[in-house]
Amino acid sequence: MILVTGGAGFIGANFVLDWIAATGEPVVNFDKLTYAGNLENLAALNGDARHVFFRGDICDRALVDALLTQHRPRAIVHFAAESHVDRSIHGPGEFMRTNVEGTFTLLEATRAYWGELADDAKEGFRFLHVSTDEVYGSLGPNDAPFTETHAYEPNSPYSASKAASDHLVRAWHHTYGLPVLTTNCSNNYGPYQFPEKLIPLVMANALAGKPLPIYGDGMNVRDWLYVGDHCAAIRAVLAGGRCGETYNIGGWNEMPNLVIVKTICALLDEMRPGAAGKYEQLMTFVKDRPGHDRRYAIDARKIERELGWRPAETFETGIRKTVRWYLEHQDWVAHVQSGAYREWVTKNYGARE
Ligand code: NAD
Ligand code: TYD
Repeated sequence: MILVTGGAGFIGANFVLDWIAATGEPVVNFDKLTYAGNLENLAALNGDARHVFFRGDICDRALVDALLTQHRPRAIVHFAAESHVDRSIHGPGEFMRTNVEGTFTLLEATRAYWGELADDAKEGFRFLHVSTDEVYGSLGPNDAPFTETHAYEPNSPYSASKAASDHLVRAWHHTYGLPVLTTNCSNNYGPYQFPEKLIPLVMANALAGKPLPIYGDGMNVRDWLYVGDHCAAIRAVLAGGRCGETYNIGGWNEMPNLVIVKTICALLDEMRPGAAGKYEQLMTFVKDRPGHDRRYAIDARKIERELGWRPAETFETGIRKTVRWYLEHQDWVAHVQSGAYREWVTKNYGARE
């Protein structure tokens, strides 16, 4: 079996569902269930013995040791993190704790466990660290997309904490020989994404007739990838990636935020026409995010060349599926928009208006 951390969050839950459907191999899912973790994401696995869930913190060394000793995984896929840039600006402490200290704790526990394995199990073991393209910083309009050798230039507390964790993973390979793999992926979208991130936030606000907040001039560029493609890429890296290597994962799909928001509005006009007219009318320019990275773009040729992975979805097919999913899962959206979510909206958007 494999151990997944953060498997109740957006990408982690998609990964667990995808992994069990694709491979049938059991998963032990270890997640703290912060505001971003939600067991409803995994409801399709209720009663399925191939999924075992443990609530706990990756900073808790004794608990991680006990899990490893009890379940003896052949691999660890590490998603658990604080993941939202705006939250990292309001409160960086939790990002340092989970993303840096948590990854350190996990690496140390893994090193102890791996060191005791028999030779063939030791040889086959992998620690896959899931990271982000944001560690590379911001590109100018004519710069080439990020390759795996691009310098690390993180600009937000979130990306700095992820960069630190990437460096720890690298060092544990170089110094202790731990068989690690690191993936640096671009912005994901798809089912189960928490409505604090741009795409689900725009859908939730549009359907509620609320303003669609666009930071700055709306011309910041991200490279968007459908979450199912990210899951397939992680499976490919786990199966065939070379130890100690990093793999960039992206959708070959750079788009300014304004285009993303207008595309969602047009799909909602088509699938759920609003009584008050076109959803685009709700677009509202608000005060920019401090230190807002202008452009991210991924050069995903290495993973294609070495492992044969390419995204299966185009943005057109992926965003259509995603809008349909949100329309069909309004009860999920309503549940996650709890009291704590409303407090966040006031904190992040109240001062921008
Ligand atoms: P998310 O915020 O939706 O989920 C994070 C999960 O980790 C939650 O279930 C949460 O409960 C859990 N968690 C948080 N702190 C924990 C702790 N101390 N111990 C155990 N569990 C804890 O995040 P996501 O968007 O699914 O991202 C998953 C990973 O992928 C992160 O490492 C992120 O940096 C990376 N990533 C995300 C994107 C993206 O676009 N969302 C892109 C590239 C990389
Ligand atoms: P986000 O989904 O937070 O991802 P990240 O900052 O990790 O790339 O934001 C995506 C882009 O959308 C980013 O340029 C910031 C912008 N954005 C808005 O314009 N309005 C919003 O309300 C949010 C949450 C993001």
